[in-house]
Amino acid sequence: MRIRRLTPAACVAVVATAVWVGGFNLASAAGEEGRASSNPLSGNKEAEGAGQTTYRANCALCHGMRADGRGRGLPNSADLRKFKRGYTKFVQAVKEGYKRMPAWGGMGALTDQQVAEIGAYLETLSRRNANWVDPEDRSEAEPSGGIVLAVLRMPEFKAPERGIILATTTTEPKEYQVHLGHLLTSWSDTPGEVGLVTILEQEATIAREHAGYAVLDLEDLANIQLHTRHVRHAVDPTAERSGQGPGLGYGVTKAAAGIIQHMEYARDASDASASAKLHAEHVLTAARNIQFWAGKTLDKAGQVIGGASPVASAFYAEEIVERIDWILLGRDANGDGTITWEDGEGGLAQIKEHLSYID
Ligand code: HEC
Repeated sequence: MRIRRLTPAACVAVVATAVWVGGFNLASAAGEEGRASSNPLSGNKEAEGAGQTTYRANCALCHGMRADGRGRGLPNSADLRKFKRGYTKFVQAVKEGYKRMPAWGGMGALTDQQVAEIGAYLETLSRRNANWVDPEDRSEAEPSGGIVLAVLRMPEFKAPERGIILATTTTEPKEYQVHLGHLLTSWSDTPGEVGLVTILEQEATIAREHAGYAVLDLEDLANIQLHTRHVRHAVDPTAERSGQGPGLGYGVTKAAAGIIQHMEYARDASDASASAKLHAEHVLTAARNIQFWAGKTLDKAGQVIGGASPVASAFYAEEIVERIDWILLGRDANGDGTITWEDGEGGLAQIKEHLSYID
């Protein structure tokens, strides 16, 4: 960073150059929202949108969908909402790695433009104590006797070659972690693009709530049937012909199938870690238990909704409550006081437990 003290006439020319080069000068980056940043794309709405997409695909696995550092890839990933070290250090951390984080997070090289877009997106999530201003820019912003102008060094947008070199000389992207990310962090076809484990938990929780309403009055057949329809919608919206319900439109059944598919992809990835291969089997067994219990729930829901007698409907409605508890918590099928991942026992709680053992 060079700081020039200039006469007013020269000053105009340099400002014009700075704006022309990057559409950026420090004063404009401080912006109407009062944000200051050394990122040339700061405040650019298009860049923020693109950055969100790239962030979710490449960073959220570890840093979390909200950038709060609570992803499931590496423990104690940084809370990027509180990033303090200025934009240049951000770019450096991403490209070269930072302490335990490999270069590019191990996810494959990005262009300089994409890194700047991620930075612009992260600024939108920033907490009060975050800082995206480089130390040099900060000192220039301070008032001084003469006219002080920052001629900003623009990021070299031609640098993808450099990125590629870095990527091949450092960490290869880990394929199994990408598939794990679809379970734990984000998957494209879920509502809100949440991970498959999250959508399963959300739908099963909704199903459990409405199964509870169904059994509030076991003599009220209409009430049992109404709430059982709601359960069916959350378990499998395609099975509930009314198309209406409190479910999110994805369903426990589809979420369990998705978990199985992506867990198999992770297990079969050529770079899968030993713990991924081992615990994949436990996750898969528990997910198949969930599929089975979800199927039973739908069968019983059909009996309730088609049934004419409150007694039979009440009986099945109570069985539904039990099945959904198993889906969420697992089942102590052999009565030994513990619930394992095993056939007939493991549910969502055991899936989460065994995913946490994978590194
Ligand atoms: C495989 C997991 C993983 C991925 C993927 C990942 N990171 Fe990180 N990142 C970490 C960890 C862990 C740390 C904390 C390093 C430490 O303190 O040991 C970190 C630290 C950082 C830091 C430094 C934070 C600070 O306070 O100085 C930045 C910036 C960062 N990551 C950005 C990113 C971006 C942007 C992406 C996506 C392109 C990304 N990371 C992808 C694991 C990851």
